[in-house]
Amino acid sequence: MSSVKITRELHFSAAHRVFNPEWTDEKNSEVFGGCANPNWHGHDYRLLVTVEGTPDRKTGFVMDLKDLKSLVESRVIQDVDHRNINLEVSWMEGVIPSTENFVMEIWNRLVREFPEGVELSKLTLWETPRHCVEYEG
Ligand code: NI
Repeated sequence: MSSVKITRELHFSAAHRVFNPEWTDEKNSEVFGGCANPNWHGHDYRLLVTVEGTPDRKTGFVMDLKDLKSLVESRVIQDVDHRNINLEVSWMEGVIPSTENFVMEIWNRLVREFPEGVELSKLTLWETPRHCVEYEG
């Protein structure tokens, strides 16, 4: 069976503060720089969701891209878009919102939600135009 990967890109904007609550403001600022600013800051995130499967005989699709978009919107985007990740996103509670931790929590939100025969293959999360993280579970 031929397996094909398809990717859908979604965008959202969110605020956060990356800091370790066990450390002083000075230590946080040393380690996390501007991302530790106590008064928050925002990013325009780009999330690329890649799923893998065998194209369906009747449609030629691994998965309908509209369904992929709706799934990611309902499980992730509507929770985080124009929100404060530290304060308003229940599934990020107690998690330092580095891009690395964030992409792993997004994975957990999505991995069990796909139709039979479709598997989450990879997430790529761009926090700025200059850096991204990749996660394959
Ligand atoms: Ni930041």
